[in-house]
Amino acid sequence: MKLTQKETQLVTELKTQEQLCVQKYNFYAAQANDPALKDLFQTISEHEQKHSDMLDSLLQGTIPDVKMKGPMAEGYSPKESRGITAEGKAFDKFLCTDIIATEKYVATAYNDDLFYFASTDVRNVLNAIMTDEQNHAEMIWKYKVANKMVA
Ligand SMILES: [Fe+2]
Ligand SMILES: [Fe+2]
Repeated sequence: MKLTQKETQLVTELKTQEQLCVQKYNFYAAQANDPALKDLFQTISEHEQKHSDMLDSLLQGTIPDVKMKGPMAEGYSPKESRGITAEGKAFDKFLCTDIIATEKYVATAYNDDLFYFASTDVRNVLNAIMTDEQNHAEMIWKYKVANKMVA
């Protein structure tokens, strides 16, 4: 499988977004007040790195395995965390809201970009990653609901 120049450019831009996601989740894992939220951000960060690796495979002409499942919203049922100050909680809420906006942006980029690809296999990969991003956002949403961060 060989990508066209335009396809290569799109995959390269998506990879930049994935690298940004890795960095953001690492930053947010370091800054979050709730240890449970730190863990969630750390887990997703590692999954974003897998996405970046998958895009690298595409750039090298190989279709990566999309059956490797990352963290799933289904079956994730966080409990309300105790012992976090109101101020700490407000800060964690900001991190969650901000990263959900990032996930929405990235998922939309995949959805828009995949229309330009000739290969069904590549479209399937981009579609699988888009679904992963929706899963990330849904997990954080569930965390927000459990922790009464949704007004
Ligand atoms: Fe990603
Ligand atoms: Fe994501």
